[in-house]
Amino acid sequence: MNVLFIDACVRKNSRTHRLAKEVLQQLNGQVTEINLAQENIQPLSEQSLAKRAELLSQQNYDHPIFRYARQFAQADLIVVAAPFWDLSFPAMLKCFIEAISIVGITFRYGKNGKIEGLCKADKLIYVTTAGGYIDEHNFGYGYIKALATTLFGVKKTQFFKADGLDIIGADEASIMQKAIAEVDVNL
Ligand SMILES: Cc1cc2nc3c(=O)[nH]c(=O)nc-3n(C[C@H](O)[C@H](O)[C@H](O)COP(=O)(O)O)c2cc1C
Repeated sequence: MNVLFIDACVRKNSRTHRLAKEVLQQLNGQVTEINLAQENIQPLSEQSLAKRAELLSQQNYDHPIFRYARQFAQADLIVVAAPFWDLSFPAMLKCFIEAISIVGITFRYGKNGKIEGLCKADKLIYVTTAGGYIDEHNFGYGYIKALATTLFGVKKTQFFKADGLDIIGADEASIMQKAIAEVDVNL
């Protein structure tokens, strides 16, 4: 199984990364990692949009700018690790989404304009940790889940979290230990 690990963790001792490692350990697969902090993917601009449109009009899907979309479309399973920032996730994950949302690679418009996902994976796992309690504000996962299921055709998603980590008096070690112990990946 070819697992694509999209790492949107920023801090050196990231707790989200620690929790994601537990998920990856439970998967019996070959893991390919995209470390978004290292990739430094830029937001779409007028220039990059025009370049992309030109390549797509030529059906030049092998061009390097589509490499993330191809990797995403070809993975058997996708794991996303992203800290809970401003009720969602770091902006570099949105830049990655802009880079992979490519008509003809990750999705297409079928009959009557209906979106059809083109990704091979049937599951995406999303991992996050938060300083406060996420409660009903789970916008990062909610958004990724909507994209996975409606745009990319990845039917199943699963969510793992540790929250309340930065609250004064919180026992960070035991919150993390509990979250790690509760990781139970269903494939
Ligand atoms: C830029 C930034 C924004 C954050 N926004 C929130 C937030 O909206 N809600 C929250 O509960 N915690 C927030 N936090 C705290 C983080 O969610 C928390 O520290 C998390 O565990 C960080 O993950 P990491 O250890 O993987 O870096 C924020 C932290 C940073 C640095």
